[in-house]
Amino acid sequence: MKRYRGGAFLKNPRELELMAEANRMVANMLDAIGDAIEVGLTTMHVEHLVQAMCIKYGVKPAFQGYRGYPYATCCSVNEAVVHGFPTERKLRSGDIVSVDIGVEYGGFVGDAARTYPVGDVDSETMRLMRVTEESLYLGIEKARSGNDLYDVSWAVQSHVEAAGFHVVKQYCGHGVGSRMHEKPDVPNFRPSSGSFPLAAGMVIAIEPMVGARTGNVRVLGDKWTAVTTDGSYAAHFEHSVAITSSGPRILSVSDRGLNRHTIPA
Ligand code: MF3
Ligand code: CO
Repeated sequence: MKRYRGGAFLKNPRELELMAEANRMVANMLDAIGDAIEVGLTTMHVEHLVQAMCIKYGVKPAFQGYRGYPYATCCSVNEAVVHGFPTERKLRSGDIVSVDIGVEYGGFVGDAARTYPVGDVDSETMRLMRVTEESLYLGIEKARSGNDLYDVSWAVQSHVEAAGFHVVKQYCGHGVGSRMHEKPDVPNFRPSSGSFPLAAGMVIAIEPMVGARTGNVRVLGDKWTAVTTDGSYAAHFEHSVAITSSGPRILSVSDRGLNRHTIPA
Protein backbone atom coordinates (compact mmCIF):
# COMPACT_ATOMS: atom_id res chain seq x y z
CA MET A 1 0.00 0.00 0.00
CA LYS A 2 1.27 3.38 -0.97
CA ARG A 3 1.22 6.23 1.50
CA TYR A 4 -1.13 9.10 0.65
CA ARG A 5 -1.73 12.20 2.74
CA GLY A 6 -2.84 12.45 6.37
CA GLY A 7 -1.99 8.83 7.16
CA ALA A 8 -4.24 7.44 4.39
CA PHE A 9 -3.08 4.70 2.00
CA LEU A 10 -3.68 4.02 -1.68
CA LYS A 11 -4.35 0.43 -2.76
CA ASN A 12 -3.00 -1.05 -5.98
CA PRO A 13 -5.19 -3.26 -8.21
CA ARG A 14 -4.03 -6.51 -6.55
CA GLU A 15 -4.77 -5.10 -3.10
CA LEU A 16 -8.17 -3.85 -4.26
CA GLU A 17 -9.13 -7.34 -5.45
CA LEU A 18 -8.22 -8.80 -2.03
CA MET A 19 -10.36 -6.13 -0.39
CA ALA A 20 -13.21 -6.88 -2.80
CA GLU A 21 -12.99 -10.55 -1.86
CA ALA A 22 -12.99 -9.82 1.89
CA ASN A 23 -15.99 -7.54 1.44
CA ARG A 24 -17.86 -10.00 -0.79
CA MET A 25 -17.72 -12.51 2.06
CA VAL A 26 -19.02 -9.93 4.52
CA ALA A 27 -21.88 -9.09 2.15
CA ASN A 28 -22.72 -12.80 1.74
CA MET A 29 -22.91 -13.05 5.53
CA LEU A 30 -25.22 -10.03 5.67
CA ASP A 31 -27.46 -11.70 3.05
CA ALA A 32 -27.55 -14.92 5.10
CA ILE A 33 -28.53 -12.91 8.17
CA GLY A 34 -31.31 -11.23 6.21
CA ASP A 35 -32.65 -14.69 5.33
CA ALA A 36 -32.45 -15.84 8.96
CA ILE A 37 -33.84 -12.83 10.81
CA GLU A 38 -37.30 -13.51 12.23
CA VAL A 39 -39.31 -13.04 15.38
CA GLY A 40 -37.86 -15.24 18.14
CA LEU A 41 -34.32 -15.41 16.77
CA THR A 42 -31.56 -14.21 19.09
CA THR A 43 -28.66 -12.02 18.08
CA MET A 44 -26.39 -14.70 19.60
CA HIS A 45 -27.71 -16.93 16.80
CA VAL A 46 -26.60 -14.25 14.33
CA GLU A 47 -23.15 -14.32 15.96
CA HIS A 48 -22.96 -18.12 15.62
CA LEU A 49 -24.02 -17.94 11.99
CA VAL A 50 -21.22 -15.49 11.25
CA GLN A 51 -18.65 -17.52 13.21
CA ALA A 52 -19.65 -20.59 11.16
CA MET A 53 -19.41 -18.71 7.86
CA CYS A 54 -15.97 -17.36 8.82
CA ILE A 55 -14.81 -20.96 9.31
CA LYS A 56 -16.40 -22.03 6.02
CA TYR A 57 -14.70 -19.18 4.14
CA GLY A 58 -11.42 -19.55 6.03
CA VAL A 59 -11.42 -15.93 7.19
CA LYS A 60 -10.83 -14.35 10.57
CA PRO A 61 -13.40 -12.15 12.30
CA ALA A 62 -11.85 -8.69 12.35
CA PHE A 63 -13.77 -7.28 15.32
CA GLN A 64 -13.06 -10.09 17.78
CA GLY A 65 -10.08 -9.04 19.88
CA TYR A 66 -10.03 -5.53 18.42
CA ARG A 67 -9.45 -3.34 21.51
CA GLY A 68 -10.82 -6.28 23.48
CA TYR A 69 -14.14 -6.50 21.61
CA PRO A 70 -15.45 -10.02 22.41
CA TYR A 71 -17.50 -11.01 19.31
CA ALA A 72 -17.35 -11.33 15.52
CA THR A 73 -20.47 -9.20 15.09
CA CYS A 74 -21.94 -6.05 16.50
CA CYS A 75 -25.71 -6.53 16.92
CA SER A 76 -27.41 -3.28 17.93
CA VAL A 77 -31.14 -3.50 18.65
CA ASN A 78 -33.61 -0.58 18.57
CA GLU A 79 -32.09 2.37 20.48
CA ALA A 80 -28.62 0.79 20.20
CA VAL A 81 -26.78 2.54 17.38
CA VAL A 82 -23.53 0.59 17.05
CA HIS A 83 -21.21 -1.80 18.93
CA GLY A 84 -24.00 -3.79 20.63
CA PHE A 85 -23.10 -7.24 21.95
CA PRO A 86 -24.97 -10.28 20.65
CA THR A 87 -27.33 -11.57 23.38
CA GLU A 88 -29.81 -14.39 24.11
CA ARG A 89 -32.78 -11.98 24.04
CA LYS A 90 -35.33 -13.11 21.47
CA LEU A 91 -36.12 -10.57 18.77
CA ARG A 92 -39.70 -9.28 18.85
CA SER A 93 -41.97 -8.00 16.15
CA GLY A 94 -41.30 -4.28 15.71
CA ASP A 95 -37.62 -4.50 16.62
CA ILE A 96 -34.88 -3.35 14.29
CA VAL A 97 -31.40 -4.85 14.48
CA SER A 98 -28.23 -3.39 13.02
CA VAL A 99 -25.59 -6.00 12.26
CA ASP A 100 -22.00 -4.95 11.55
CA ILE A 101 -19.38 -7.47 10.38
CA GLY A 102 -15.66 -7.29 9.65
CA VAL A 103 -13.41 -10.06 8.34
CA GLU A 104 -9.72 -10.37 7.50
CA TYR A 105 -8.75 -12.07 4.27
CA GLY A 106 -5.38 -12.04 2.51
CA GLY A 107 -4.10 -9.35 4.85
CA PHE A 108 -7.05 -7.01 4.26
CA VAL A 109 -10.24 -6.14 6.11
CA GLY A 110 -13.79 -6.17 4.75
CA ASP A 111 -16.35 -4.13 6.71
CA ALA A 112 -20.07 -3.59 6.12
CA ALA A 113 -23.34 -3.27 8.04
CA ARG A 114 -27.12 -3.28 7.56
CA THR A 115 -30.20 -2.67 9.66
CA TYR A 116 -32.96 -5.30 9.43
CA PRO A 117 -36.62 -5.01 10.40
CA VAL A 118 -38.08 -7.83 12.53
CA GLY A 119 -41.74 -8.74 11.91
CA ASP A 120 -43.99 -5.69 11.59
CA VAL A 121 -42.07 -2.46 12.04
CA ASP A 122 -43.95 0.85 12.27
CA SER A 123 -43.84 3.14 9.25
CA GLU A 124 -41.76 5.88 10.90
CA THR A 125 -39.05 3.36 11.81
CA MET A 126 -39.16 1.93 8.28
CA ARG A 127 -38.68 5.49 7.02
CA LEU A 128 -35.69 5.89 9.37
CA MET A 129 -34.05 2.82 7.85
CA ARG A 130 -34.84 3.86 4.30
CA VAL A 131 -33.49 7.41 4.74
CA THR A 132 -30.32 6.02 6.34
CA GLU A 133 -29.75 3.57 3.49
CA GLU A 134 -30.51 6.30 0.93
CA SER A 135 -28.00 8.62 2.61
CA LEU A 136 -25.34 5.90 2.28
CA TYR A 137 -25.90 5.70 -1.48
CA LEU A 138 -25.93 9.49 -1.83
CA GLY A 139 -22.60 9.58 0.02
CA ILE A 140 -21.16 6.83 -2.19
CA GLU A 141 -22.12 8.81 -5.29
CA LYS A 142 -19.77 11.59 -4.08
CA ALA A 143 -16.83 9.21 -3.45
CA ARG A 144 -14.91 10.29 -6.55
CA SER A 145 -11.37 11.49 -7.11
CA GLY A 146 -11.47 15.25 -7.53
CA ASN A 147 -14.21 15.54 -4.91
CA ASP A 148 -13.57 16.35 -1.29
CA LEU A 149 -14.14 13.75 1.41
CA TYR A 150 -16.56 16.12 3.09
CA ASP A 151 -18.74 16.15 -0.02
CA VAL A 152 -19.50 12.57 1.03
CA SER A 153 -20.20 13.74 4.57
CA TRP A 154 -22.50 16.52 3.41
CA ALA A 155 -24.46 14.25 1.07
CA VAL A 156 -25.22 12.02 4.05
CA GLN A 157 -25.98 14.79 6.53
CA SER A 158 -28.15 16.91 4.24
CA HIS A 159 -30.37 13.98 3.25
CA VAL A 160 -30.80 12.78 6.83
CA GLU A 161 -31.61 16.24 8.17
CA ALA A 162 -34.00 17.09 5.33
CA ALA A 163 -35.95 13.99 6.38
CA GLY A 164 -36.09 15.28 9.99
CA PHE A 165 -33.67 12.70 11.39
CA HIS A 166 -30.30 13.15 13.12
CA VAL A 167 -26.79 11.97 12.24
CA VAL A 168 -24.64 10.61 15.04
CA LYS A 169 -21.50 12.73 15.30
CA GLN A 170 -19.66 10.78 17.99
CA TYR A 171 -18.81 7.92 15.59
CA CYS A 172 -17.45 8.08 12.04
CA GLY A 173 -16.74 6.00 9.00
CA HIS A 174 -13.08 5.47 8.21
CA GLY A 175 -10.39 4.51 5.78
CA VAL A 176 -10.00 0.74 5.62
CA GLY A 177 -7.24 -1.53 4.34
CA SER A 178 -4.78 -3.87 6.01
CA ARG A 179 -6.19 -2.44 9.22
CA MET A 180 -9.85 -1.91 9.98
CA HIS A 181 -9.42 1.73 10.93
CA GLU A 182 -7.15 3.80 8.72
CA LYS A 183 -7.18 7.50 8.09
CA PRO A 184 -9.14 9.45 7.13
CA ASP A 185 -12.14 9.54 9.45
CA VAL A 186 -15.34 9.79 7.41
CA PRO A 187 -17.79 11.87 9.43
CA ASN A 188 -21.50 11.77 8.70
CA PHE A 189 -21.60 15.55 8.95
CA ARG A 190 -19.64 18.32 7.29
CA PRO A 191 -16.96 19.60 9.69
CA SER A 192 -16.83 23.37 10.19
CA SER A 193 -13.43 23.55 8.49
CA GLY A 194 -10.87 21.43 6.69
CA SER A 195 -10.68 19.49 3.48
CA PHE A 196 -9.38 16.15 2.29
CA PRO A 197 -9.07 15.51 -1.46
CA LEU A 198 -10.25 12.06 -2.51
CA ALA A 199 -7.85 10.11 -4.74
CA ALA A 200 -8.11 6.93 -6.80
CA GLY A 201 -6.86 3.99 -4.73
CA MET A 202 -8.41 5.14 -1.46
CA VAL A 203 -10.88 2.78 0.21
CA ILE A 204 -13.31 4.21 2.73
CA ALA A 205 -16.02 2.67 4.88
CA ILE A 206 -19.00 5.01 4.65
CA GLU A 207 -21.39 4.29 7.51
CA PRO A 208 -24.25 6.64 8.32
CA MET A 209 -25.56 6.16 11.85
CA VAL A 210 -28.89 7.93 12.26
CA GLY A 211 -31.18 8.50 15.23
CA ALA A 212 -34.90 9.10 14.84
CA ARG A 213 -35.18 11.97 17.36
CA THR A 214 -31.60 12.66 18.44
CA GLY A 215 -28.06 12.08 17.21
CA ASN A 216 -26.68 12.09 20.75
CA VAL A 217 -25.44 8.80 22.11
CA ARG A 218 -24.01 7.40 25.33
CA VAL A 219 -22.11 4.19 25.96
CA LEU A 220 -23.59 1.56 28.28
CA GLY A 221 -21.81 -0.01 31.27
CA ASP A 222 -20.52 -2.81 29.02
CA LYS A 223 -18.15 -0.12 27.67
CA TRP A 224 -19.23 -0.75 24.05
CA THR A 225 -22.93 -0.45 23.28
CA ALA A 226 -23.77 3.07 22.05
CA VAL A 227 -27.43 3.98 22.56
CA THR A 228 -29.37 7.12 21.76
CA THR A 229 -29.71 9.34 24.83
CA ASP A 230 -33.49 9.61 24.41
CA GLY A 231 -34.11 5.96 23.59
CA SER A 232 -35.24 6.71 20.05
CA TYR A 233 -34.45 4.06 17.46
CA ALA A 234 -31.34 4.22 15.29
CA ALA A 235 -30.29 2.77 11.94
CA HIS A 236 -26.84 2.01 10.50
CA PHE A 237 -25.83 1.04 6.96
CA GLU A 238 -22.22 0.63 5.86
CA HIS A 239 -20.39 -0.17 2.63
CA SER A 240 -16.66 -0.30 1.94
CA VAL A 241 -16.10 1.77 -1.18
CA ALA A 242 -13.02 2.13 -3.40
CA ILE A 243 -12.38 5.39 -5.22
CA THR A 244 -11.31 4.44 -8.75
CA SER A 245 -10.49 6.38 -11.91
CA SER A 246 -13.92 5.32 -13.20
CA GLY A 247 -15.85 6.35 -10.09
CA PRO A 248 -16.94 4.77 -6.82
CA ARG A 249 -16.73 0.99 -6.64
CA ILE A 250 -18.73 -0.61 -3.83
CA LEU A 251 -16.67 -3.56 -2.58
CA SER A 252 -19.21 -5.03 -0.15
CA VAL A 253 -21.35 -6.65 -2.87
CA SER A 254 -22.64 -10.18 -2.31
CA ASP A 255 -22.99 -13.00 -4.83
CA ARG A 256 -26.63 -11.90 -5.16
CA GLY A 257 -25.45 -8.51 -6.39
CA LEU A 258 -26.01 -5.11 -4.90
CA ASN A 259 -29.44 -5.05 -3.30
CA ARG A 260 -31.00 -2.13 -1.56
CA HIS A 261 -32.82 -3.48 1.40
CA THR A 262 -35.16 -0.84 2.71
CA ILE A 263 -35.47 1.31 -0.40
CA PRO A 264 -38.41 0.35 -2.62
CA ALA A 265 -37.38 -0.45 -6.22
N1 MF3 B 1 -17.80 -1.17 11.48
C1 MF3 B 1 -17.43 -0.70 12.80
C2 MF3 B 1 -16.33 0.25 12.64
O1 MF3 B 1 -15.87 0.37 11.58
C3 MF3 B 1 -17.23 -1.80 13.74
C4 MF3 B 1 -16.09 -1.85 14.66
S1 MF3 B 1 -16.57 -2.83 15.96
C5 MF3 B 1 -15.24 -3.18 16.89
O2 MF3 B 1 -15.93 1.01 13.46
F1 MF3 B 1 -15.65 -3.88 17.85
F2 MF3 B 1 -14.40 -3.85 16.19
F3 MF3 B 1 -14.68 -2.08 17.28
CO1 CO C 1 -16.70 0.42 9.78
